[in-house]
Amino acid sequence: VEFVLSEDGSGKGAALITAVIDKYLYAMRLSDETLMDIMKRFRRELGNGLCSDTNPTATVKMLPTFVRSIPDGSEKGDFIALDLGGSAFRILRVKVSHEKKQTVQMESQIYDTPEDIIHGSGTRLFDHVAECLGDFMEKQNIKDKKLSVGFTFSFPCAQTKLNESYLLTWTKRFKASGVEGMDIVTLLNKAIKKRGVDIMAVVNDTVGTMMTCGFDDQRCEVGIIIGTGTNACYMEELRHIDLVEGDEGRMCINTEWGAFGDDGMLEDIRTEFDREIDRGSLNPGKQLFEKMVSGMYIGELVRLILVKMAKEGFLFEGRITPELLTKGKFETKHVSSIEKSKEGLTKAKDILGRLGMEPSADDCIAVQHICTIVSHRSANLIAATLGGILSRLKDNKGNPRLRTTVGIDGSLYKMHPQYARRLHKTVRRLVPESDVRFLLSESGSSKGAAMVTAVAYRLADHTPT
Ligand code: GLC
Repeated sequence: VEFVLSEDGSGKGAALITAVIDKYLYAMRLSDETLMDIMKRFRRELGNGLCSDTNPTATVKMLPTFVRSIPDGSEKGDFIALDLGGSAFRILRVKVSHEKKQTVQMESQIYDTPEDIIHGSGTRLFDHVAECLGDFMEKQNIKDKKLSVGFTFSFPCAQTKLNESYLLTWTKRFKASGVEGMDIVTLLNKAIKKRGVDIMAVVNDTVGTMMTCGFDDQRCEVGIIIGTGTNACYMEELRHIDLVEGDEGRMCINTEWGAFGDDGMLEDIRTEFDREIDRGSLNPGKQLFEKMVSGMYIGELVRLILVKMAKEGFLFEGRITPELLTKGKFETKHVSSIEKSKEGLTKAKDILGRLGMEPSADDCIAVQHICTIVSHRSANLIAATLGGILSRLKDNKGNPRLRTTVGIDGSLYKMHPQYARRLHKTVRRLVPESDVRFLLSESGSSKGAAMVTAVAYRLADHTPT
């Protein structure tokens, strides 16, 4: 890129500014042709993970969840749900009643998970979970009740049944020692000792999201999270799941699509900024797709771009502050504010100001455009992987058209002003032979653990008290 942004800093050259940035970040602007290609690659990964020959080396793990159906509407009872691994640790009480119509009532509390706990020993982490649970039960006056617990644990786990779940590897911000390879139900049971609760089910947050949406829409067969991390699950035909016996019916598969690209499959579209994010992360070489798209990394990607462009004199008249140079100072929620259509440019000025910068009007336009390119790439890439799942579902059903519902939760999807619209639009372009309904699932990831527990409870033929 040969020319500078603006001579007079008067904010008149918006078209020129965006053109320069487009050129600078051309590698992040993916054409539909590229997205189609990514979609095809991802479809191959789905097949590799399901097939017993290729599963051991597959990057997209395709984990069986032992969830075989969405709620049928007859569930009832009083449950506790724990939700660990998203942007907040939450405990909920979920009452499912069944008068004329099934209704769900819930109360919840957020608990802190300080860094020294999520990076400390596993015993301490689970003791902390148990302590918070004790506090919650006390506050709810249910200390002496024998309630069933559903646990949303948003990490890749190998399950052998609903309440046995071995952590394969930590992802995102977590790295407590002595937990990888262990059954988290055993660890949690050990920590909660005599509290009289029974852990009925462990579910991934994607599964929780799908189950919660399934409650409102029987057609829901995909669950997606676009938050701190990203992932998806969907209902697969049992006859295609080599790792689980039986040929009849379906089972929900947790794809763990965040690991897409860990074998080099996305090298042609990864940029120097993606590589830098990976190098500075807790898990280098892992979750490469997640690092290009999810909330934990989007803000940081933008920050790295701003630093490089400033150093090269394209932004801020070449000036950089120590704050702008600090990892984590530019957050994904800032990207969301800056992309607001009305106040976005004012927000850009405020946010950069808080980092000690004095941006010109043109700088603000430039930063807004950079945010757009990074978040749009995220929505596009998710559209491609979701497109892969949708086209597989369509083939599974053998119908020329697919009519389906996708449940979605996650902070980035919910808080970003344009994200949802862009994602929906691209999916419809990439998989034109589908009629997809996108359902935002408020608290879906945590409520869903209670829904799975409710289904398990019904199947175990308990009579609720
Ligand atoms: C990470 C986890 C995955 C989870 C996702 C969203 O990718 O590995 O299990 O579903 O984040 O929270």
